[in-house]
Amino acid sequence: MKVLVIGSGAREHALCRSLSLDPDVTALHCAPGNAGIAEVAELHPVDALDGEAVAELAAGLGAGLVVVGPEAPLVAGVADAVRAAGIPVFGPSREAARLEGSKAFAKDVMAAAGVPTARSYVCTTAEEVAEALDAFGAPFVVKDDGLAAGKGVVVTDDLEAAKAHAAGCDRVVIEEFLDGPEVSLFAITDGETVVPLQPAQDFKRALDGDEGPNTGGMGAYSPLPWAEPKLVEEVLETVLQPTVDELHRRGAPFSGLLYAGLAITSRGVRVIEFNARFGDPETQVVLARLKTPLAGVLLAAANGTLADLPPLRWSEDAAVTVVVASHNYPGTPRTGDPITGLDEVAAEDAPHAYVLHAGTKRDGDAVVSAGGRVLSVTATGEDLTEARERAYRAVGRIRLDGSQHRTDIAAKAAQAAQAATA
Ligand code: AMP
Ligand code: GLY
Repeated sequence: MKVLVIGSGAREHALCRSLSLDPDVTALHCAPGNAGIAEVAELHPVDALDGEAVAELAAGLGAGLVVVGPEAPLVAGVADAVRAAGIPVFGPSREAARLEGSKAFAKDVMAAAGVPTARSYVCTTAEEVAEALDAFGAPFVVKDDGLAAGKGVVVTDDLEAAKAHAAGCDRVVIEEFLDGPEVSLFAITDGETVVPLQPAQDFKRALDGDEGPNTGGMGAYSPLPWAEPKLVEEVLETVLQPTVDELHRRGAPFSGLLYAGLAITSRGVRVIEFNARFGDPETQVVLARLKTPLAGVLLAAANGTLADLPPLRWSEDAAVTVVVASHNYPGTPRTGDPITGLDEVAAEDAPHAYVLHAGTKRDGDAVVSAGGRVLSVTATGEDLTEARERAYRAVGRIRLDGSQHRTDIAAKAAQAAQAATA
């Protein structure tokens, strides 16, 4: 099978890495890709947001499967254009992707499906905003209704800051603060059958100790030794299946990856958000643990045959990924800085640790930074402690002027797991 992956982040590098290890994949292509993806796939300089161009590329390559990585092309209808060209595509329609593209739509679907989530108000005027903030009290949660790459959400105790964020958006969702650890649970679905993957945890804040602004994600790990063993089953029953069924009922079946961002509160599991695609950086750790070859799973979702698929097989290993970001991320990042040490990681740390590229490109012989999140350094180990050690050893070999990374990815979970077995 020839496969075309759309996107250019570390998530797409992780997808391409897994697909490149799948014996059923005879050729792997990516548009537009990055310097790391170029090592496992042939790159094509096609605009990921242009559905016609993507469909034309896929047809020209004879692709038997197109995998759309990021949300923006999905919301722009790229999966619809590929499907209309008769090519199997992993990724929801524009209509179904509204689950991520509009927080207000997601809230409406959840209400109809009885899915537990934070109570919320959709506001368009300063008066409505002030009333909603007053109704919930601090900490205030203010979300831009549209796509904002994980950066449209402000959680703050400062009423003026909450109002100021709302004033900068056309339409906002203001909601109740959810206390408790966060879990990202992904499910692959063909619009009817839902196959959950292993849960992961992401670190959304820029700085150690969950300080600083929200980012797209600074690191992740899987599994979650502290989570209830029944978590996945419970979320499948109370969140994932009802949501997929509701979209089916509305005539907008969701096929592709349904990402539930969850808070495990004292009153039970609540949905923080849905995304319509694999999470970044959680995908890096989830796929590091998936033993079932990936292409067949994604194709079954695209073709509506997930019910026939045997259960997924998972490695017992733990996986950790640490994001190396540019100077000033999540603000306007500095780009064009050379990255060195990548060869050392490949020579010293493989196969347990490896570097997935996000914002990188080639500049002659050099690899230079080209975005906010630059690398996602990923490692596996017998437990989180070993996976962390390996990931951070590899991070230590990489040099990128002005770069930043968190030093506490998976630290608490690793410690707790060690204490439990001691
Ligand atoms: P979202 O884009 O909706 O995932 O929000 C980004 C981040 O903001 C989440 O991962 C949470 O850390 C935080 N957040 C969002 N909604 C809430 C909420 N209702 N209560 C507490 N934290 C939230
Ligand atoms: N890691 C958060 C996201 O992919 O939205």
